[in-house]
Amino acid sequence: MHPFPAVDPIPLPAPIWLLKLLHIVTLALHFVAVEMLLGGLLLAVLLSLFRGSPASMVAARALARRLTIVMTFVINLAVPPLLFSQVLYGRALYTSSVLIGLYWISIIGLLTLTYWLLYRFTARLEAGKSAWWVGLSAWVLAGCIARLLSTTMTLMLRPEVWRQMYSASAAGAYLPTGDPTLTPRWLLMMTGGIFIGGLWLVYLAGRSTFTVDEKLFLAALGGKVAAVFGLAYLAAGLWAASVQPEIVKTGLRADALYKFAGFAGYLWLALVGVAVLVGLAAGFGKLTANWFSWVGVLLAVLIEITLVVYRDGVRDLTLLSKGYNVWDRAVETNWWVVGLFLVLFVVGLGVVGWLVSVVVRSKKVMEGAA
Ligand code: HEM
Repeated sequence: MHPFPAVDPIPLPAPIWLLKLLHIVTLALHFVAVEMLLGGLLLAVLLSLFRGSPASMVAARALARRLTIVMTFVINLAVPPLLFSQVLYGRALYTSSVLIGLYWISIIGLLTLTYWLLYRFTARLEAGKSAWWVGLSAWVLAGCIARLLSTTMTLMLRPEVWRQMYSASAAGAYLPTGDPTLTPRWLLMMTGGIFIGGLWLVYLAGRSTFTVDEKLFLAALGGKVAAVFGLAYLAAGLWAASVQPEIVKTGLRADALYKFAGFAGYLWLALVGVAVLVGLAAGFGKLTANWFSWVGVLLAVLIEITLVVYRDGVRDLTLLSKGYNVWDRAVETNWWVVGLFLVLFVVGLGVVGWLVSVVVRSKKVMEGAA
C-alpha cells in the first residue's frame, strides 16, 4: 500500500520552482541564525568559564548581548521555510511530526525556556555574576531542539517505519531508531555552529567598538576555532553524505535535475575549505581589517546556501525512491497573489536593510566599557 496520505485536491497557488526557491533562501537564512546561536552561545559560555584575560570577558559579553537578538532571527526565519516545506512536503512532514507528536510539541516549551535562559545568561554576565551554567543549560536545550528537528526531518524520509511506529504508540511518545543518517546530520549542524561561531568572532574583530588588544584576541581565537571546527564540519558533512542510500548518491551524480544539488555539495566542500584557510589567516596572522571580517560573513552565507541546496536534493531523491515526487502536483498559479507576495517580500527586505543601516549609523559605545 502507498504509505503517503492522499494528496490535497486544492492545487498549489504558485509554481513549484518558486516555492522551492523561496524555501531554499529562507531556510539557508534560518540555518545561518541557528549556527550563530549554537556556536556563539557555546563560545560565550566557555569564554566566561575560563576567563583567561579581560578580553575574554569582553568577548563573552559581546556575544551574549547579541544572542538574544540572534534568537529572534532564528525564530522569525524559521517560519517561512516551515510554511514552504509544509506546502511542498506536507504529506511526509505532517506524518513524521504527528508520529513524534509529544516531542514535536515540546519544542515550544524548550524554545521558551532556552530564550529565558539566554536573557538570564546575558543579564548575569553584565552584572559580573557567574553565568556559564545558565548559558550551558540554554545551549543543551538548543541542542535538544536541533536533535528533535533533525529527527522529524529524517523520519519524514522513512515511510517504511511509520506504520510500525504508529502501532507501537499512537500517542507520539516514541522516537524512531535505526536511521544511520540522523546522528551525522545532527552533528553536522552542531559542529557547523562552532565553526560559524569562530567566523563570527573574526567578524567582530573587524568592528571599531573593540580596542586593538580585544580585536587581536577575537581574531586569534575566532580564526583558530573556525579552522579546527571547519575541519570537524567537513568530516561531519562527508559522514552525512556517505550514509545516504546508494540511489540518492547516484541521483546526485547523474539525475539531470539533481546533478545541480550534487554540484552544490562539492561547492560546499570547497567553500568550507576556503573558510578554514581564512580562519588560519585570521588566527595566526591576527588579521583585523574591516574588509577581511566581511569575508567570513560572505562565506558563512554561501556555505549555508550550498548546504541547503544539497540537502534539498537528498530529500527529493530519497522521497522519489519511495514514490513521492515533489514536482508531481497540480498548480493553479494566482499571479496577483504571487506578485503581491513578492512586492511585500522586497519591501520587507528593504525595511530590514534600513533597520540595519540605522544600527550601523548609531552612536558607538566601546564594548569593554559598556
Ligand atoms: C533554538 C531554536 C532552533 C534550533 C536550534 C533549530 C535547529 C534546526 C536544525 C538543526 C535544523 C536542521 C534539521 C536537519 O535537517 O537535520 C532545522 C531545520 C528546521 N527548522 Fe529549526 N531550529 C530552531 C527553531 C526553529 C523554530 C522555532 C522553527 C519553527 C517555527 C523551526 C523550523 C525549522 C524547519 C521548518 C526546519 C526544516 C525545514 C525543511 O527542511 O524544510 N526551527 N532547525
